[in-house]
Amino acid sequence: ALVTSTEMFKKAYTGGYAIGAFNINNMEIVQAITDAAAELKSPVILQASQGARKYANSVYLVKLVEAANEIHPEVPMVLHLDHGADFATCKDCIDNGFTSVMIDYSSHSFEENIEESRKVAEYAHEHGVVVEAELGTLAGIEDAVSVDADKAMFTDPDQVEEFVNKTGVDSLAIAIGTSHGAYKFKPGTNPKLRLDILAEVSRRLPGFPIVLHGSSSVPQEYVKIINEHGGKLKDAIGVPEDQLREAARGAVCKINIDSDLRLGMTAGIREHFVANPDHFDPRQYIGDGRKYVKDIVAHKIKNVLGSENTI
Ligand code: G3H
Ligand code: 13P
Ligand code: ZN
Ligand code: NA
Repeated sequence: ALVTSTEMFKKAYTGGYAIGAFNINNMEIVQAITDAAAELKSPVILQASQGARKYANSVYLVKLVEAANEIHPEVPMVLHLDHGADFATCKDCIDNGFTSVMIDYSSHSFEENIEESRKVAEYAHEHGVVVEAELGTLAGIEDAVSVDADKAMFTDPDQVEEFVNKTGVDSLAIAIGTSHGAYKFKPGTNPKLRLDILAEVSRRLPGFPIVLHGSSSVPQEYVKIINEHGGKLKDAIGVPEDQLREAARGAVCKINIDSDLRLGMTAGIREHFVANPDHFDPRQYIGDGRKYVKDIVAHKIKNVLGSENTI
């Protein structure tokens, strides 16, 4: 059923796990994610970025998620706006079938972030929709806004209580060393999330659901398939899975994953074309991409999120 994340976050918080928030851009991705969630009896968040809404047309994405709910009525699903740029974008989603929105004003001042997030929360709550906001800035690409790695700012735990109290948002994304995309860390380094900041944030906000963006792990077996079949991905490195699992045991209730799904889709399609140079039926190669996306989502649910068998 299409629901808000309120109940799922409560259960995830007390159960010591997190819900996967996977980005959707087309039918096959929606199918891969929701089929995996149904097989493993896990709730799931389907999230659409502004780029996705532009690429697919938001109406298609809403209807695809409605179809997934009709096919898997037992699976609690959230349709979430990822990185909403402003009130108008959030309002459009609230008015058109989304059950959750993110207002991302993290690159604006603390005061502006509070004001825009408060406005979105007020409108969303009047319409039965929940809101995620963000404090701190992730390295990498936040939709259109590119943030230099050295300017990446960890969330300041001293700000979180005031922010949550003044805005009334339902969950908070924080910056503890994750970043967007497939090139998160320098090769040869030992990537470490600031789990100490997470612990301090959760001490200030007892019971409050925390969100991690930029949480792809960039599985090297898929990078390898891509590079062995004509691809050229150099030094793609992600967040170690054990650190995400650790975060999910604590206050983190939502973990965002997009890049890993892109790698799976690309690996399946590249492998298919090399093995079958005579094929030109999109169902054959996109179908192979869809298989890998489903495998990756299943792996996350079982080994990273811990949300298997929680429906
Ligand atoms: O946070 C970014 C997500 O991976 C979505 O990326 O804006 O290219 O759709 P996108
Ligand atoms: P990744 O690029 O690590 O998959 O992060 C996705 C994300 O945070 C979407 O909001
Ligand atoms: Zn993100
Ligand atoms: Na958790």
